[in-house]
Amino acid sequence: MGADPAPAARPGAHGIDLVDMAFWARLPSERLADFARLRELGPPVWFPEPRVPFVRSGKGFYALVRHADVVEASRNAAVFSSEPAATSPEPPPWLAKVFGTPMVNMDDPRHARLRRIVFRAFTPRMLAGIEAEIRATAARIVDEVIADEPHDFVEQVAARLPINVICAMMGIPERARPYVLSRIDAMTAYSGVRGSLASPRALRLLYGNLRAIVDLHRLVARLGRARREAPTGDLVSALVNAGESGEALSVRELGSFFDLLLVAGNETTRNALAHGLHLFTEHPDQRDLLLADYDARIGGAIEEIVRYVSPIVQFRRTLTRDHELGGRRLRAGDKVVLFYPAANRDPEAFADPDAFDITRKPNPHVGFGGPGPHLCLGANLARMELRIMFRELFDRLPGLRATGEPEYLLSSFDNGITRLPFTYTGRGGSRP
Ligand code: HEM
Repeated sequence: MGADPAPAARPGAHGIDLVDMAFWARLPSERLADFARLRELGPPVWFPEPRVPFVRSGKGFYALVRHADVVEASRNAAVFSSEPAATSPEPPPWLAKVFGTPMVNMDDPRHARLRRIVFRAFTPRMLAGIEAEIRATAARIVDEVIADEPHDFVEQVAARLPINVICAMMGIPERARPYVLSRIDAMTAYSGVRGSLASPRALRLLYGNLRAIVDLHRLVARLGRARREAPTGDLVSALVNAGESGEALSVRELGSFFDLLLVAGNETTRNALAHGLHLFTEHPDQRDLLLADYDARIGGAIEEIVRYVSPIVQFRRTLTRDHELGGRRLRAGDKVVLFYPAANRDPEAFADPDAFDITRKPNPHVGFGGPGPHLCLGANLARMELRIMFRELFDRLPGLRATGEPEYLLSSFDNGITRLPFTYTGRGGSRP
């Protein structure tokens, strides 16, 4: 199983190590420069990974950094499997036995069955149903910014919208939401390339992660059982009771789905919002272009934010059989990691890839994943949240801009911003 990597392909020959957390501590521009060098090297490069206690053992992965390679690995799921896991570090097999497997870590037909059921959460009708709630939440967030002093865009705006939207979808009462947020933070602290987690800190994070999963599962299991006994017409009722196809989620599957929504739909949208404000500050010409005709241009602007930033950095696949990709012969059992930020700046796919251009057309970015069975299920929800939140912000906070450099999250999974100072003009003039 697994190809023996050629010595020349080992990190060191090119001086880049994607497994070392020091790589992810560098500035985004420096990481992108290294990804450009990897793209230019040609065939996918191999990165060995150290073993980590309690985590599925593996030898390493080939880094996919070219747009064409990421698209092929996403589309060709028969060869590029999402099992045993698309996330890094790969969870140990017992974890799936205890908590169930999220759909992102499954192949068809198991994946297709779950996707069919949970699609009920994302139909145009369901999305239209929560649009008013998203508008009201966005308005409340801006009310509170106006009532308070603007200091941190992440804390006051970006972190608040997505979690409230997901909780509203799931019918989680307002009073339980701070608790849910603390559990999510504990869960996401463990995501990333495993090499960095070979330490006592890794075990602490793993423990915190497991506790958080147990707590959240308990919460939604209670909700699921209640809705099964007395359906209310909300999303959880739709998921745990059989639909037209006769299929429904088990209470355990509901727990896994909720974890996935929280992990997939929370940080991603939060980071797209924060990066969006930073980008509009750095590129005032693009902000002016947007504001000159918001309705016509916001769709293109959102796609360009997602391309430029790639809020999710990577997912992985495992080869089911030998296959040639991008000039490299891969073997059954090999792992590949799809690096979306690298693919989204590939000059073979995008003219002038480092320009932030909200009118870019076409824009075949892979920020929501490549085309294929796992393409982001929440993309239209994320688009709606970004459209509504930026409209509310730009309409009511004239001169909205960041006032300093973002503080970045140290992660190889989320391209996160943890703090972004901001200001706006109005209500008595410009703030410092
Ligand atoms: C800007 C925001 C977002 C970004 C950049 C993003 C990115 C991604 C990516 C890259 C994947 C592909 C996984 C793969 O190929 O293995 C994915 C899948 C997924 N996303 Fe998103 N996402 C975003 C927002 C959301 C939201 C708001 C939700 C739901 C509330 C969501 C739910 C999901 C789900 C359920 C999957 C798994 C689909 C499957 O396995 O069939 N995402 N997302």
